[in-house]
Formats: sequence, structure tokens, C-alpha cells
Amino acid sequence: MVVKTPPMGWNSWNTFGDRIDEQMIMEMADAMVSTGLKEAGYEYLVIDDCWSEKKRDRNGRLVADHVKFPHGMKYVADYVHGKGLKFGMYSCAGNLTCAGYPGSYEHEFTDAETFASWDVDFLKYDYCYHSPIVPGKYLYRRMGLALENTGRDILFSACSWGSDETAEWIKSTGASMWRSTPDIFDNWNSIRNLTERQSSLHPYNAPGCFNDMDMLVVGMHGNGNVGIGGCDDVQYRTHFSIWAMMGSPLMIGSDIRKMDEETRRTLMNREVLAIDQDPALRQPYRLEMQEAPGTEDLLVYARHLDGGDIAVGFFNMGGEKRQTGLNMDQLGLPVSTGRTAAFHELWTGGTVRPENGTLRLELEPYGCALYRAKLEALPY
Ligand code: GLA
Repeated sequence: MVVKTPPMGWNSWNTFGDRIDEQMIMEMADAMVSTGLKEAGYEYLVIDDCWSEKKRDRNGRLVADHVKFPHGMKYVADYVHGKGLKFGMYSCAGNLTCAGYPGSYEHEFTDAETFASWDVDFLKYDYCYHSPIVPGKYLYRRMGLALENTGRDILFSACSWGSDETAEWIKSTGASMWRSTPDIFDNWNSIRNLTERQSSLHPYNAPGCFNDMDMLVVGMHGNGNVGIGGCDDVQYRTHFSIWAMMGSPLMIGSDIRKMDEETRRTLMNREVLAIDQDPALRQPYRLEMQEAPGTEDLLVYARHLDGGDIAVGFFNMGGEKRQTGLNMDQLGLPVSTGRTAAFHELWTGGTVRPENGTLRLELEPYGCALYRAKLEALPY
């Protein structure tokens, strides 16, 4: 299945882990609609690990846990589809899933048919307990082919955490997104670690197969399955801005039934979402800051957008307030071009302009500024 822009949705793992059931998933579908998330573009509702019985049936088919999903998965899929959403599920390239449920190894085609028979639209495919003999690329090709041959459009979401040089072979498997980094946890160190690891992977992020930086922790505030430590709203805004700047899929991981106002504002900022979903799908590039020699705390990225605007993101990864300045030469706009740009900040709504060829700004600890810069003639 070919997808045009980074997929967006909600996934059960970050908050719920194995505490999933039909009622909660249906409530989540309701919440995706009632909160406006669906309208903002979040369309996939994905059940992660721990949804099945521990044993296959006598025909070797996966079976939904009878207690968690008493009416079976087709019933849940129908409900999700009834809300105008798409339905995602999870399996693993190994014998077992990461949480110890049956994996799809040597059952790939049967399982793909089972998912198709439940009207599944998205499959996240993990890498735990994989064969030590069969290379990962072969395992992912199997499932990619199996899904493609079900006759149903099923988005293939690979999750081998970037290991075994996934970047080199993932596009041969038919995957539309691939986890480029290890698991996220709800704390700043994890967000920073995933951001820094991503810096060498931008060249692999391509139309049709997007680098997945993992599910969002925005709004978790230390609650739930990966809620180890928690972050504050400033950090969540920076986290979300980085994922958008890098063009990652955006899969929400918090309990959206209890979404507070600040979380809502972050997840539904239309202008930030438009950066993530920009149709040109170009990669960001890193800008070197003279003001911050020797420190890795300040990350500045730019990205050329469809139609000629430039996204520019300043990310303060450290706990100190920071002042910085960006020289327009670095964006390709020296004075000799006769052009400058108006920088519209997507969180505050303010607009600033460079002075004498330099844009100056101050960032709060862990804060960010994310601009959409529009080119204009120099005023002389
Ligand atoms: C792995 C994946 C996670 C999640 C868990 C489920 O750790 O990377 O995203 O799916 O397995 O067990």
C-alpha cells in the first residue's frame, strides 16, 4: 500500500500496554472523533501487543483474547470503521511478540489473511524473538508480500527499531513506515536520545516509506505503560515540533479520553501538522549555530516546503535558557538576493523579521521556536 504523507493516528502501547480491551478501544474511537483529532488528520486507531490468546486455534490461526475482545476483532474493526477511522493491529516477525504472545514467524501468509478477514487497515510488525538464522530483511519481505497479496489495502508499519541496518533494506519490503530508533519512554532523556539518533537517518526518510521516530508521549505526564518520569508541557511541545519537523508519522500514545487543554493545543496545532504533512516531503537539514560552539544543546533544522516557504525549527535540548541568532546566508538568503523572510512562529502566532541579515531569538529551557518563513523583498 502506498501512503502519500506520514501516517497519523493513535496507538494503545504507550499508555495501556497489556491493559487493553474492546470497551477501551471503542471509547478511544469515540474520543478520536469527539475531540476533533480525526478532523485534524489522525485517522488510524491501532491496537498494539497483547490482544490475542496465548495459543493459535487448531487451524493455526491467531485468535483474539476472549475476555478482552469478547465479540472478536471484526466487531471492533466495524465499530472503528463506523466512526470513519481506520483500524490497525500488531504482530511480530518472531515466534513470539515482544510481550510473549504468538508471533507471525512461519505463519505470515495465514496471519495476513486473518488480518484482512477482520478488515484491518494497518499492521505494525515487531522484531522480538526473531530467527537468529533468517535475516530480518527476509522476514519483513515475507510479511510485506503477504499483506500486499491479501487483496486489501493494509499499511505495513515495520518495527525493527533500526537494528540490523534496517535503513538499508526496509524499502525492499513494501513497508510504508519503519521504526528508525529504539522505544520511546515518557521522559526528556528518551526524547533527546531519539532526536539525536535521527540526525544521521534523514537521507533514508523518503516519500512512501517514512522514518518513524516512535509513538508520541505528548500528554502522558508520567502516566501509563511507558510513563517513566514524565515531561512538562514545554517539553511535549518541543517533542511534537521535532517529530513534525523531521516528518515522522504521528501516532498519539496518551489517553485521549482525558486530554487536557494544553495537550489538545499541542496535538492539534494545524500549522505544525502542516509541516509534518507537507506534500513536498523534503528532508530537514541541520544548521550550524555560531553562538553555541561546543554545545549539543541547541539543534536548529530547516526544511524547504512545498510552494517555497521554509520551515525553521530551533530546539533547546538543555535545561538552560539560550539566546541564538540565525544568519540568513545559511538559508540561501544573503542580502545579495534582494530577499529576506517573515518568520511566523507556529506556537505563539507572532511574526519576526531578521535584522541586518540575522534572526535573533531566545529559547526557554527545553523550549522551541518553530517558524514558517515566507520569502519577501528586502525593504530597500
Ligand atoms: C516493542 C515495540 C513497542 C511495542 C512493544 C510491545 O518494544 O518497539 O513499540 O510495540 O514491543 O510489546
